[in-house]
Amino acid sequence: MRFLIFAILCSAWSGTAREVTAGEDGNAPTFNRDIAPIVFNHCSGCHRPGQSAPFNLLTYADVTKRAKQIREVVEKRIMPPWLPEKGSVPFANDRSLSSQQISLIRRWVENGLQEGVGARPELPHWNEGWQLGTPDLIVKLSQPYVLKPEGKDVYRNFVIPIPVSARKFVKGVELSPGNSKVVHHAFINIDTTGYSRKRVDKDEPPGFDGMALPETAAMPGGQSLSWQPGKMHSFAGPGLAWALEPKTDLVLQLHLHPTGKPETLQPSVGFFFTDEPPTNTPFRLNLNPLNLDIPAEAKDYVVEDRYVVPVDIRLLSVLPHAHYLARRMEGYAVLPDGTRKDLLLIKDWDFNWQGDYQYAIPVELPRGSTLAMKFTYDNSTGNPHNPNHPPKRVRYGLQTTDEMAELWFQVLPRNLTERNLLGADFAKHLANLTVEYNEAVVKENPNDAEAHTRAGRDQIFLKQVPQAMAHLETAVRVAPDYDRAWYELGYLNLGLDRLPEAQHAFESVVRLNPLDYQAEGNLGNICMRRGDLEGAESHLRAALRINPQDAVARQNLDLVLNAKARKR
Ligand code: HEC
Repeated sequence: MRFLIFAILCSAWSGTAREVTAGEDGNAPTFNRDIAPIVFNHCSGCHRPGQSAPFNLLTYADVTKRAKQIREVVEKRIMPPWLPEKGSVPFANDRSLSSQQISLIRRWVENGLQEGVGARPELPHWNEGWQLGTPDLIVKLSQPYVLKPEGKDVYRNFVIPIPVSARKFVKGVELSPGNSKVVHHAFINIDTTGYSRKRVDKDEPPGFDGMALPETAAMPGGQSLSWQPGKMHSFAGPGLAWALEPKTDLVLQLHLHPTGKPETLQPSVGFFFTDEPPTNTPFRLNLNPLNLDIPAEAKDYVVEDRYVVPVDIRLLSVLPHAHYLARRMEGYAVLPDGTRKDLLLIKDWDFNWQGDYQYAIPVELPRGSTLAMKFTYDNSTGNPHNPNHPPKRVRYGLQTTDEMAELWFQVLPRNLTERNLLGADFAKHLANLTVEYNEAVVKENPNDAEAHTRAGRDQIFLKQVPQAMAHLETAVRVAPDYDRAWYELGYLNLGLDRLPEAQHAFESVVRLNPLDYQAEGNLGNICMRRGDLEGAESHLRAALRINPQDAVARQNLDLVLNAKARKR
């Protein structure tokens, strides 16, 4: 037990007195006194049976057998895997080695791998089951998934109903990957609409492939729920639980790495509940420039984004995301008085070791601070991670051969009012990024109806009416069969009270996609405004036949039926 506490202290404040000073008394370092504490606390957690690493590092023999290789990987800072540089703000559970620890390992190897005579510390005690204790609810994939032995990495998404019959407040979520060898990283999302379920591959269950999740799947309540080997789980702070509603699906996205033989896995997720309802809710703010266009052979391609926060916030954690070409990642804040605060620096990004990093002490940023990110990409032949041989032009996209630039901050505003203010303000920032990106896409390909539609949709949100109209009219002209373009055009015209144009657009939608209940609902709405109660009733009933849960159509139908009753 003493050692467990020691291990926790070490991982939070790497380089405790014992680890740093030992071996510096002029004597050659020994395994028992100097090396075992480093290995046991920084390596053995993964290098033991049942965990992700391919061999054990638990005994003197294990470590001496690979001493040269160990020295090399620690000097190059490949092991333990930990991407952020030590900077101005410390991270919780930082498992990286201090330079003193690395130098101890080097001197131990150079001095002949002495075992030493004194007592060796005991191995830490590892909780073999769930880290956070016994979950209140375990949600397990109903059948195992079989990963092919060969081929490229696989992105697999599993959709699992979460069986709760009443609202629960969740204070912690823990993933048990089911097969640690093959799972590189995971993101835990939920979907309250049932939409992700429809994506499940009927021919090859369970789950479906790909990095792209439906928009309806998201991490719940501002949580940052990622997993990677060696992940330390923790409970949400007081008052920061999130509400889990009945009929919610878990959407588990796993990045899997074939091993050369068929591997099965059956992941499960443990939920930990509390009776305390949330008093505040974090917000996930994503600096997410989309206008990436990286020429082949470009070595230092830079993308940046910045956002001025409209309320006081506290940063809880940061999660960087990009694919194989990203090399350097910087996240920082500029305070209203002009001082710069570094929030994350990764000099050598590794797609295989992505995850989130929790600040050991939340970072306070006053309103008016700028949050900023700057990522640098290397699309040259010299980048060993480059998936394209020879390199080719790479743009934004969800495939691993495309690129992304995301820096997610989990932030805590002071209260729910300010959270809503932040949410509304940040939505404008995202909409501007979307418009900018899609306008670049249509410049290159003027017939891309989807890009015109995305630009138009966000311009409606930004109240840029003439620009939205131009994009949506172009979209339906170049792709008259694209129902989403007609829908957005109808929505825009309805907002402008141009009823004939709106009606024509929504009629086009239901002709192209008879299951679009919202278009039916809007046709009902148009009939209501015209005083055509019969027409309204028939469209609203059609909407409810398609989606009986459509609350807006239900409400409008009640209005229509009341009006009809009064008339009689
Ligand atoms: C978070 C889990 C984790 C921790 C902590 C960890 N390793 Fe590893 N290690 C791995 C995995 C997984 C591999 C397999 C290669 C890979 O996936 O990158 C590996 C591979 C290695 C290799 C083989 C490298 C190669 O190029 O094949 C060495 C040597 C190694 N680790 C040493 C260490 C040492 C020494 C420490 C502690 C200072 C350590 N590891 C800490 C997970 C870990």
